Amino acid sequence: MDNNSALEQENNKKTWSGRFNEPVSALVARYTASVGFDQRLAEYDIQGSLAHAQMLAEQGIISKEDLGDIQQGLNQIRDEIRNQQFTWLLELEDVHLNIEKRLTALVGDAGKRLHTGRSRNDQVATDIRLFLRTAIDEIIELIQAMQHALLNLAEQHIHTVMPGFTHLQVAQPVSFGHHLMAYFEMLKRDIGRLTDCRKRVNQLPLGAAALAGTSYPINRERVAEILGFDGICENSLDAVSDRDFAIEFTGCAALIMTHLSRMSEEFILWMNPSFGFIQLADRFCTGSSIMPQKKNPDVPELVRGKTGRINGHLVALLTLMKAQPLAYNKDNQEDKEPLFDTVDTLTDTLRIYADMLTGVRVNQDAMRRSALRGYATATDLADYLTKKGIPFRDAHEIVAKAVQFAEQKGCDLSDLDLNALQKFSQQIESDIFAVLTLEGSMQSRKHSGGTAPEQVQRAINQARQWLS
Ligand code: ARG
Repeated sequence: MDNNSALEQENNKKTWSGRFNEPVSALVARYTASVGFDQRLAEYDIQGSLAHAQMLAEQGIISKEDLGDIQQGLNQIRDEIRNQQFTWLLELEDVHLNIEKRLTALVGDAGKRLHTGRSRNDQVATDIRLFLRTAIDEIIELIQAMQHALLNLAEQHIHTVMPGFTHLQVAQPVSFGHHLMAYFEMLKRDIGRLTDCRKRVNQLPLGAAALAGTSYPINRERVAEILGFDGICENSLDAVSDRDFAIEFTGCAALIMTHLSRMSEEFILWMNPSFGFIQLADRFCTGSSIMPQKKNPDVPELVRGKTGRINGHLVALLTLMKAQPLAYNKDNQEDKEPLFDTVDTLTDTLRIYADMLTGVRVNQDAMRRSALRGYATATDLADYLTKKGIPFRDAHEIVAKAVQFAEQKGCDLSDLDLNALQKFSQQIESDIFAVLTLEGSMQSRKHSGGTAPEQVQRAINQARQWLS
């Protein structure tokens, strides 16, 4: 063996291979390696290592000189990675061993001392938590940007009447602004869930070492402080093994996507010419290669589709965890790809949505026509009769007859004259026409949470205050 290949073999030797007699096969190396995807954690890995090394030096476990070497080496590695000059080796398995090996090549023995009192088990758990904490902060900001876009659109349409639906049948007239504000509320709860989840993400596993802790006089609280964690994971076995925080986050993400998927479904329906309620800006749609008339709502369709993918990640992570005995198992390496894809899909979706909302054009006439076609004010007529002393169930019956009659004539209730209406009840007087208009119906629902324009305005003001 020439000198060069002996050196190469030494370089590629597994960090843990001391007790092994034969190397793993190429397939096993590829199968067990995670560096292809976990190199994404590099910045957090370095951040965690710097904090760990600083604590080791403060505790007198490594020397100040070693700390200086480690810091200088890790900073150089960070630059190399940022400038894409770092060579990732599959043989070195994962992000942690790649960085450690390079550090040792750069600074010698100090690099080998970095791993004192630490294991990749607590290291990787720390890296993911740092990654996820940053992701959550970014996602909350993106949701807020989308909420701003929703508010701006809602505010333009406080007085715009649309048919409110139940069972996708015309039910009662609502303000389009009110309809949009329903999504604001969903997103507000989503932010609440993420904020709560962040508290459980932001706990430090480091110090748990492989599973049982370490015999070195470490200071975990100090590491938590340096890294900005709210506290430490209290039990070393739990710290290295559970990924419930990642599952919880993915659950939050699945709910956000579910909300966006519902909105997407509505946009898709509303863009259909049978509704014709809205147009999306062309940059969110595509045409058909065969049917020249088509404008397809691709972006909302994909949001709806990608929701399935996030639900899949949630199930994958739950299943990954469910049969794992304490403490760390290699199964956990499989947590990263679903988690990364969840973060990427969600951030892209939120970014696109905020932009898409700014380009929504509303066809108020179409909304109005649709509300008029569906006897949306029938409940208002029943309520009117009830207020005149007729029991609601009887009023319901009377109005049902009136609707049937109008349907036969092919007109709206408000198109019937007083004479015709009085055939159904003598209690009906000329003030009924104010009640039967779409605006009258909307304006009468003026309690908090109702669709009256004054209430919608109030909800928007309150929302703006909450956001600022
Ligand atoms: N790449 C591993 C993971 O993602 C790091 C921890 C490996 N620990 C071990 N004992 N093999 O989970």
